[in-house]
Amino acid sequence: MRAILQADAPGSLMLFGEHAVLHGHRALVCAVDRRLRVRLAPRADGRLAIRSALGDYEAPIEAPGDAPRLRFVQAAVGHLRDRLPGGCALDIESDIPSDLGLGSSAAVVVATLAALRAWADGVPPRPDALLAEAREVIRAVQGMGSGADAAASIHGGVVAFRAEPLQAERLAGPFPITAAYAGSKTPTPEVVRRVDAFGRGHPALHRGILALLGRVSEEAEAALRARRPEAIGPLMNVAHGLMDALGVCDERLASLAYRLRALAGIAGAKISGAGLGDCVIGWGGAAGTEPPAWCLPMAMANAGLVVGAP
Ligand code: MEV
Repeated sequence: MRAILQADAPGSLMLFGEHAVLHGHRALVCAVDRRLRVRLAPRADGRLAIRSALGDYEAPIEAPGDAPRLRFVQAAVGHLRDRLPGGCALDIESDIPSDLGLGSSAAVVVATLAALRAWADGVPPRPDALLAEAREVIRAVQGMGSGADAAASIHGGVVAFRAEPLQAERLAGPFPITAAYAGSKTPTPEVVRRVDAFGRGHPALHRGILALLGRVSEEAEAALRARRPEAIGPLMNVAHGLMDALGVCDERLASLAYRLRALAGIAGAKISGAGLGDCVIGWGGAAGTEPPAWCLPMAMANAGLVVGAP
């Protein structure tokens, strides 16, 4: 295949505002230095071919399919199918593990839409239009989603985010972080359903905890805008406690948060993402030493989406 376009997008980690962002509160999210590339080559036969580590697939471009492991890519193609000049091959390479809660689904949606739009329109999409479109595709596949992870994939660095009305603003960064994986992942929609069930049983507590999570996120955003990153670690500890109160912490996540906080150079730690699995993130890097082997070799990164010739 002879690719004419490449879209290259980073994975992401939530810093603040998980769950609360689905109820109108602000969130902070960041891009990481694990990336995913979609290369696009037009095909004369009107067919779609997807090649990726998650599987290969071929179908007419008008019916891009819904193979479970490729459904985010296929939904992105389906979303733009009427605008495309013809068939195409999409070659996907990723160094974002798909099961660690590092925003690989959002990254593949962002990169696929960006490559297809640049091909169809002759210019890369505007970031705000791409974010709205990426969130539509994510919601169509998994039934929910704030779009915060897509915003980080598009903009890179640290992003201050609100879902309604949709706003994403890049703040200064990057900052040292340390992340550790809990060893398993509960699908985000399932964790959100459990939090909703808690909300039906305890509406006032649910509202109050989400409002506090939003408040912590606002304070973190204000601290970063005022160039006071030293305020972030203690705020992470507060957010972790609130996520525990919401019911999304478990023994492994709690233990990882305490182990990260015990490392020199780490000023605070919290669950990152929906919870009940995924990652715990620490603010800072293990000072003067390599991070322990139970931490992920990964850093925050300023580079966002890049679209261009391969
Ligand atoms: C998951 O990373 C964060 C949630 O707030 C869901 C979302 O924002 O789409 C739980």
